Amino acid sequence: MTDDTIVVVEDLVKRYNGFAAVDGVSFDIKRGEIFGLLGPNGAGKSTIISILCCLLKATSGRVVIDGFDIGRNANNIKKIIGVVPQEISLYHTLTARENLRFYGRIYGLSGKTLKNRIEALLEMVGLTDRADDLLEGYSGGMKRRINIAVALLHNPRILFLDEPSTGVDPQSRKRIYDTIQDLNRQGTTVLLTTHQMEDAEKLCHRIAIVDKGKLIALDTLERLLELVGESDIIQVMAKEIPPASVESIRQIDEVQKVSMDGGIMTIQLVRGRESLAGIVDRLISGGTKVESISIKEPDLETLFLHLTGTKLRR
Ligand SMILES: Nc1ncnc2c1ncn2[C@@H]1O[C@H](COP(=O)(O)OP(=O)(O)OP(=O)(O)O)[C@@H](O)[C@H]1O
Ligand SMILES: [Mg+2]
Repeated sequence: MTDDTIVVVEDLVKRYNGFAAVDGVSFDIKRGEIFGLLGPNGAGKSTIISILCCLLKATSGRVVIDGFDIGRNANNIKKIIGVVPQEISLYHTLTARENLRFYGRIYGLSGKTLKNRIEALLEMVGLTDRADDLLEGYSGGMKRRINIAVALLHNPRILFLDEPSTGVDPQSRKRIYDTIQDLNRQGTTVLLTTHQMEDAEKLCHRIAIVDKGKLIALDTLERLLELVGESDIIQVMAKEIPPASVESIRQIDEVQKVSMDGGIMTIQLVRGRESLAGIVDRLISGGTKVESISIKEPDLETLFLHLTGTKLRR
């Protein structure tokens, strides 16, 4: 472990009755980094983050956070981490300010220190003017922002966020992005999980792609997109796609993969634009009633399809 590494995860495994929800995952997080775990529902993201937050015990593997081993020094770790869980954990019959005061006392803060901290955090998440309203009247996005403020009360070195933008309106999402970036600029290391490409693309310095308990790629967005190489994705929506039509598309030299999902045919191929006319010809002569056809430049969705043959948003 070098000085600029703050989190080390080695061969992490978590089994539930024999089922491996996390199946031998290893990665490092650098100090000052925003690191993302991206993957579809059930990939194992919450399980990984819960183990790192000391909320769940691993079956095997090693986790070291800022020099502390999770098996032996969980109490030291809890002092330096902040946790924003996937499920909101706030008191709905209290106001935002009262929730912050309650959790602040649990962290051992009081008096002027606590008051100043609460005001600064309310300002940071943009909810100062709603601070005396009961939580039950808050939108999902506003509750999430208060949950982030709660996680920051004790000024943690590392912030863990499980799906920070799920179920959040666009305005709150932007505010959450700004908050995470501000904190990071001030030196906080961030680990977040998401199944939304946008979170990973806009926020993360490095992205680990997780599927079925395994880490299948890890790099910066730019380098991950290079893995897709020359591939493009063409999507065809149609009322009816006869099997012969699918087969004739598979025969085209440039085509790498064809998958069907309901009335949508996804074609992965090289030099998509050049092959488009040929594809349309074959579809029509094969009896496909095309409703629309679109071509996508490589993004994380394309990469996921490229690596796993399935879609990220299932
Ligand atoms: N307590 C549990 N008992 C049994 N199986 C579990 C338990 N918790 C999670 N799992 C299983 O482990 C797998 C990983 O779940 P996990 O919640 O980590 O996924 P996730 O990537 O966070 O998904 P999501 O995007 O839906 O939040 C899933 O198949 C899930 O059903
Ligand atoms: Mg989850």
